[in-house]
Amino acid sequence: MTPADVPAAEEISADAFHALDVRLRAAAEPEPVRRPPSRSEAWIARTERLVATDGRGCWVAEDAGTVVGIVTSIRRERVWCLVTFAVRPGLQGGGIGARLLDAAQRHADGCPRAMLSASADPLAARRYHAAGFALHPQLRLTGTVDRRALPVVTGLREGSGDDLGWMDDLDRTLRGGPHGPDHTALAADGTLLVADDHSGYAYASESRLAVLAARDEQTARRLLWECLARSGESFQAAHVTATNAWAVDVGLAARLELGTRGYLGVRGMAPPAPYLHDGALL
Ligand SMILES: CC(C)(COP(=O)(O)OP(=O)(O)OC[C@H]1O[C@@H](n2cnc3c(N)ncnc32)[C@H](O)[C@@H]1OP(=O)(O)O)[C@@H](O)C(=O)NCCC(=O)NCCS
Repeated sequence: MTPADVPAAEEISADAFHALDVRLRAAAEPEPVRRPPSRSEAWIARTERLVATDGRGCWVAEDAGTVVGIVTSIRRERVWCLVTFAVRPGLQGGGIGARLLDAAQRHADGCPRAMLSASADPLAARRYHAAGFALHPQLRLTGTVDRRALPVVTGLREGSGDDLGWMDDLDRTLRGGPHGPDHTALAADGTLLVADDHSGYAYASESRLAVLAARDEQTARRLLWECLARSGESFQAAHVTATNAWAVDVGLAARLELGTRGYLGVRGMAPPAPYLHDGALL
């Protein structure tokens, strides 16, 4: 993938995920909406950064000069993460994805750990299983926070660039590598909250949690409660593994709805805890 391919890659990812949402939509769910232009810009900016930092992990598949599939992946010290993977609807199921994933995984050579957040697409699950990933169902907490449930939370503050050093150390312990250059994308999407004693951090907007990492469950709970206190009309924490049952306790106490969607795929490691991963940057 070159910087010039990124707009075409964005189109394919928006089309593929919209088609997937339409295909898997439950009767009670609203009509899926294709990624709006406002979010396309952020997708393009993030992917341009990935091409710059991890060019060897980012590939396109072409047919007669037209991009028909894309993959982006990053390597952060001891962990390789799959960020995005999509094939043009209508061409899926024919082996293009397998070749793309093989190419991206060469960026993981010598990396002992790997993570990805899989959609609910059965085709994706087949590919990841074939690549040696263990698939752990993702629990999802969504809805409007019952503000009467909010406890008093102390010992947290908004973070700054000065906090990134210890945050990266915490990520090394929890997942095998720092977020490093990916803090830019995470910060563009939400507010950084940190524990005064450097025992954890979270990135969250009013509407969704991106990442939450902590040394202990007590800190993790406090961080999640603070994210919920700052939430707007609706909020979602979409990437909770069963090993992070503390997050289910908090979410249900706040009267969010519990469901399941997709998988955390891990290779060479167990699902991290106390840790809620970002859907793209892990
Ligand atoms: C996931 C995705 C990128 C894979 O690319 P692809 O070109 O479809 O993948 P492949 O054809 O190489 O592999 C698909 C596998 O599913 C199988 N398959 C095809 N139709 C299937 C179906 N209806 N149900 C289950 N498996 C199916 C294929 O036979 C193949 O398995 P095999 O290699 O063991 O035979 C693509 O399907 C896609 O864009 N999906 C929507 C977006 C998405 O979910 N991306 C993943 C985000 S984590």
